[in-house]
Amino acid sequence: MQFYLAPLQGLTDWIFRESFSQHIGPFDKTFTPFIRVQGGEFYRPSQCNDLLPAHNVFQKPVPQFLGNTVESFKRFEELCEAHGYVEANINMGCPYPMVTGKGMGAGLLAHPTEVAKLLEGIFAETKLKISIKTRLGHENATEFEPLIPIFNAFPLEELIIHPRIAKQQYKGEADLLAFAEYASRINHPVCYNGDILTVADIEKVHALAPQIDRFMIGRGILQNPFLLYKIRKQELTQTERVKMLRNFHISIIEHCKQKYSGDLHILKRFEELWEYHAVGFENGHKIYKQVKKCKTLAQYEGVVFKAINEMN
Ligand SMILES: Cc1cc2nc3c(=O)[nH]c(=O)nc-3n(C[C@H](O)[C@H](O)[C@H](O)COP(=O)(O)O)c2cc1C
Repeated sequence: MQFYLAPLQGLTDWIFRESFSQHIGPFDKTFTPFIRVQGGEFYRPSQCNDLLPAHNVFQKPVPQFLGNTVESFKRFEELCEAHGYVEANINMGCPYPMVTGKGMGAGLLAHPTEVAKLLEGIFAETKLKISIKTRLGHENATEFEPLIPIFNAFPLEELIIHPRIAKQQYKGEADLLAFAEYASRINHPVCYNGDILTVADIEKVHALAPQIDRFMIGRGILQNPFLLYKIRKQELTQTERVKMLRNFHISIIEHCKQKYSGDLHILKRFEELWEYHAVGFENGHKIYKQVKKCKTLAQYEGVVFKAINEMN
């Protein structure tokens, strides 16, 4: 089985990915959060920094494209090629109205002709291996039905399915039954994504779709950075876990000190990380509250390293 790190905008940028691969362990694949390209131009040029080779020494990610024209994809491909990437992922899952309203991300899913046109244009010229990360639909999971022959018509590297619809954002249940039904009709390798928090969650997917041999995990890794060790039945001692997690956080802090000016920027970012990360600690609620109250990096380090030293 293979395990991928999900792209999480604002959370799993190069700083997180490098610190994780170096100190906790590599995934089989990682993906950058989306890089949005609109009208052939980078929407936020700073997003491109995530691909710099100097930022991706320990593990090269798959760059993710968010856009809806061939022209935009070409611009993205130039960037990928300039940095030596050979594979790209197309985002057809982003549920936020600011994105879907522009016909990007999950906003594409209710328009199969647009999806077909985009893929035709991309595959006519691309030199990259292409995978897609999708939801089941925008408003309704039945929107996936007409997409199946379209996805099957192109030589995709793989199709990553998060079985929610955009309207749900990240709430409500992932639809495992619909996932199993649709996945069995896709000609490409299919990767499952959504709410994998424990070994039992993988077994639940396997019970319905035994052929699935790749899983993408996002929030589950933020909550429990040692989840892959659990899944692979690799035992770690308490001392090993404390050491790995300490080094992971030291690395994130050091990179952030260089990237951001001023403690407040850094603390804002750490608050987002701990919203998920704290859940894995026994007294996580208290730790998250303490993190939110920190006014300086020194205070933050005090809270975080105490929490890590005391974890079970
Ligand atoms: C804060 C946040 C940011 C996200 N950013 C991206 C993104 O940039 N690209 C993408 O394809 N999915 C993005 N996602 C979706 C995740 O990759 C993943 O599909 C989703 O969280 C479900 O998987 P999980 O339950 O394992 O976290 C994001 C999700 C969250 C919660």
